[in-house]
Amino acid sequence: MKLNVPDYIMSIKPYEPGKPIDALEREYGIKNIVKLASNENPVGPSPLAVKAMADHLATMNRYPDGSVFRLTDKLADRFKVGHENVIVGNGSDDIIALLAHAFLGSGREALMPLPSFLMYEISVKTSGGVPVMIPLKGLSIDLDALAQAVTEKTAMIFLTNPNNPTGSYFTTEEFNVFMLQIPADVMVIVDEAYIEFAREPDIFNSLKNPLSDSRIISLRTFSKAYGLAGFRVGYGVMDAQIASILHRIRQPFNVNSLAQVAATAALDDHEFLESGLRTMHQGIDELAKDLSEMGIYFEETFPCFFSPLIPLQYPEYQLKMFLFS
Ligand SMILES: Cc1ncc(COP(=O)(O)O)c(C=O)c1O
Repeated sequence: MKLNVPDYIMSIKPYEPGKPIDALEREYGIKNIVKLASNENPVGPSPLAVKAMADHLATMNRYPDGSVFRLTDKLADRFKVGHENVIVGNGSDDIIALLAHAFLGSGREALMPLPSFLMYEISVKTSGGVPVMIPLKGLSIDLDALAQAVTEKTAMIFLTNPNNPTGSYFTTEEFNVFMLQIPADVMVIVDEAYIEFAREPDIFNSLKNPLSDSRIISLRTFSKAYGLAGFRVGYGVMDAQIASILHRIRQPFNVNSLAQVAATAALDDHEFLESGLRTMHQGIDELAKDLSEMGIYFEETFPCFFSPLIPLQYPEYQLKMFLFS
């Protein structure tokens, strides 16, 4: 059959996830692999989440709650926003895709740092939008260059704070200066997938003062600090008008039942969250100390990131982070 596929689809390189441990063990005949790809939480999932999920198994003959009511309610309460400002997705990947599908197309542009999280580019291309890559400055997101790259075609800007894969962050002051340069009709998507790990008090945290600016869309996930990557739950907090448009196009049951109960329970598992973060911070500090003692150079951004491996597709950054001494 002759397939008629648009060029923008053919231009997409499939996302290559880190291989599962089982598959690697089979492939190489080795055991005790420590997997650092995918930035998964090595200590999770939260025991409260596991229990809630196990208790829920017997009701799996039912469809999920399409409104994700209980989790949305908890998130709205936590961040002091309305239900209408929260949207929960099948991972934050889902919300990134919804934003691109709803607001791009017909050549509208999305600006993004390079390198950064690969799903921005894939979602933008899938929607028929145009990704515009703005290289990092050193290891940090170049906010000035992003602001200067805005044109009348720009619909959205992706910012990752802290950044994946470099672990750099931007401060509230830097973000405020950036926003002064951004037109009123451009969305600024602040992806805070790793913000719970950051120890820097001056990091910009979009949910400290949510909805203060209708251009800002905050994205968070349960995949990292909460250790629920396998369940696929992420959420966005945004202007109600934007959220209502995403609700029009999302799948009716985009968050499965077990994911909903697990994430709802995990939100209350403060002990798990805090002890996991402590363990990972300790690991980072030990690694930093050992690297210093060995005379191996590492960038200062590195301490705010828990899994500082740079994907193989960016060898130049890998070299900067690890091999120079
Ligand atoms: C910066 C960033 N955003 C979003 C995600 C996706 O998270 P989720 O598992 O919620 O889809 C990741 C996953 O690695 C990430 O690194």
